[in-house]
Amino acid sequence: MNLMVIAAIGRESSTTNMLGRQIVGICEGIGCDVDFVTPTALALPVNDGTLPPDLPAAKAWQERVAGAKAFIWISPEYHSGMTGGIKNLFDHLGKEALRGDVVGLCALAGGAMAALNTLNGMSIVARSLGAWVAPDYCAFNSNEVKQGLDERACKRLEALCQSVVDASRRLSAPWPEPAQADLGI
Ligand SMILES: Cc1cc2nc3c(=O)[nH]c(=O)nc-3n(C[C@H](O)[C@H](O)[C@H](O)COP(=O)(O)O)c2cc1C
Repeated sequence: MNLMVIAAIGRESSTTNMLGRQIVGICEGIGCDVDFVTPTALALPVNDGTLPPDLPAAKAWQERVAGAKAFIWISPEYHSGMTGGIKNLFDHLGKEALRGDVVGLCALAGGAMAALNTLNGMSIVARSLGAWVAPDYCAFNSNEVKQGLDERACKRLEALCQSVVDASRRLSAPWPEPAQADLGI
């Protein structure tokens, strides 16, 4: 299973990046080949509508995305939405670039409110790219990530990763041949 973890922040001391790396460990533990991506490492230019359609860096990014079947996106809440940096990665993808793929979503908030607007916004973008979105989201306060997630939060995170992998496997599996009895023969 090729799974891509996309963390919105590249800075290693960032709680978003820390959570991303924790998710990489969980997904590797359940048998995934994981590609860990940040906008910082990719350094794609801002897609402001002036870029050439055959930009080599964008083509390389699109091919990298095509190599994954499952994704986990992690963003902090910036003014009630995902960061512009992570959105820019998606703005370099074609329509339905994630058709048949599964996306799991995590978001971090600095304030007392959980990052629900960010999660809902990311869900809309994932569906617009053609992906199936895992129904359970993970929302954290950045302080709880900084202090180290407690057992309950770790279990929620593990359950999200497992559900993304399971859903992706089910979507990729061929349908079983119907039994003769099911056909009424
Ligand atoms: C530009 C900006 C906007 C932010 N807007 C919000 C917000 O709307 N709601 C919120 O709870 N936190 C907000 N925050 C706080 C971030 O969500 C918080 O700092 C983040 O979770 C920390 O992530 P990091 O450790 O990966 O940098 C904002 C922070 C920045 C820098």
